[in-house]
Amino acid sequence: MTKLPVKLGERSYEIFIGSGNLKQAGILVRSLSQAAKLVLVSNPTVFPLYGPQLVEVLQANGFTVNVALMPDGEAYKNMEEALKILDQAVDAGLERSSLLLALGGGVVGDLAGFVASVYQRGIEFIQIPTTLLAQVDSSVGGKVAVNHPRGKNFIGSFHQPRMVIIDSHTLDTLEDREYYAGLGEVVKYGVIYDEQFFAYMESNASAIRNRDKSCIESLIYRCCEIKAAIVEQDERELGIRAILNLGHTFGHSLEKLGSYQLYKHGEAVAAGTIMASCLAMALDLIDNRDLLRLLDLYKQLGIFPPRLAFSAEDIIAGMLNDKKTLNNRLHLVLPNGIGSCVIRDDIEQKQLITAIERSRHLELEFTK
Ligand code: NAD
Ligand code: GLY
Repeated sequence: MTKLPVKLGERSYEIFIGSGNLKQAGILVRSLSQAAKLVLVSNPTVFPLYGPQLVEVLQANGFTVNVALMPDGEAYKNMEEALKILDQAVDAGLERSSLLLALGGGVVGDLAGFVASVYQRGIEFIQIPTTLLAQVDSSVGGKVAVNHPRGKNFIGSFHQPRMVIIDSHTLDTLEDREYYAGLGEVVKYGVIYDEQFFAYMESNASAIRNRDKSCIESLIYRCCEIKAAIVEQDERELGIRAILNLGHTFGHSLEKLGSYQLYKHGEAVAAGTIMASCLAMALDLIDNRDLLRLLDLYKQLGIFPPRLAFSAEDIIAGMLNDKKTLNNRLHLVLPNGIGSCVIRDDIEQKQLITAIERSRHLELEFTK
């Protein structure tokens, strides 16, 4: 088991990474909390796989465990479901000193974290992420939220977990499409921050694609390390943290246009990153070689976003409704070579349309 600190003063915590960590979860959770009760939030897909084992080790460490399940899917990351979990927390008699645990992917983690942030003005919570995407991104950094009918993650808070327990063994049951979608967020770290990491993925693409255990753990470790370094500098996204949103402004619009069914989050991020890269190329921030490197890596890793079924105008309308606008101007993260990026707020609609159309053309070639 390896341990990675996230240094945020009094909100600091550790990320435990390893295979078989669930078995240690009872001891780990007890090591930081004297709470008597906790609510374990999960969903009907994940709970039968890992819930009973987790409940057992928690009970063995003296916790009274109440299980609260939300339906599976991004479409349920909403206030209605959050209220149901809040009701269950009230029924279970959760106190301010109690704990909430999130066992699942990013949807469960975001919603459970949001509930923890508002229940009795905030209680402690622990992330036990079970998808690749959640293990490399959403469980770390304290962004918690639910969607509003008008936009993704519109209702939320910054509420850091007290601990993140990553058991890479849980990925064994993850469907291929979810695994490859998660790799969309993994590639993001290489593009925005670390050319060497990007090159590592290029050199180990087939092992990663074939889910080699030690490669996966290295990926998880490096992604969490990069995310921690960025969040430590800018916990509330007033500056550098925004670079983690590469591809997200485009991607959130695609997810919403697809009614949160057509795209997996990581696929939408990959599609959005291709659009951002086309724009970056038009602005001479990257050259054709960089773009081909990115497309090739996606292909080698098995990341294939669904074909673009929406007009550029509709995508842009959705982007303007995203949270990342300031005074109605888009703030877009664009790659600046591989391993570095810039944030631009001076992009005209015409340039966006051209980039989206260029990416549509590329995707057609790419998905053949
Ligand atoms: P998800 O939570 O919907 O999980 C994907 C699917 O895999 C679900 O059907 C889930 O039940 C299933 N699953 C989970 N673990 C499994 C396992 N071990 N075995 C078998 N099936 C399993 O999707 P996701 O990709 O994990 O997360 C996407 C969400 O994360 C989005 O809502 C996105 O906005 C959010 N997100 C948040 C942040 C953040 O910083 N808070 C960052 C990135 C993404
Ligand atoms: N996933 C973006 C962030 O955590 O800031």
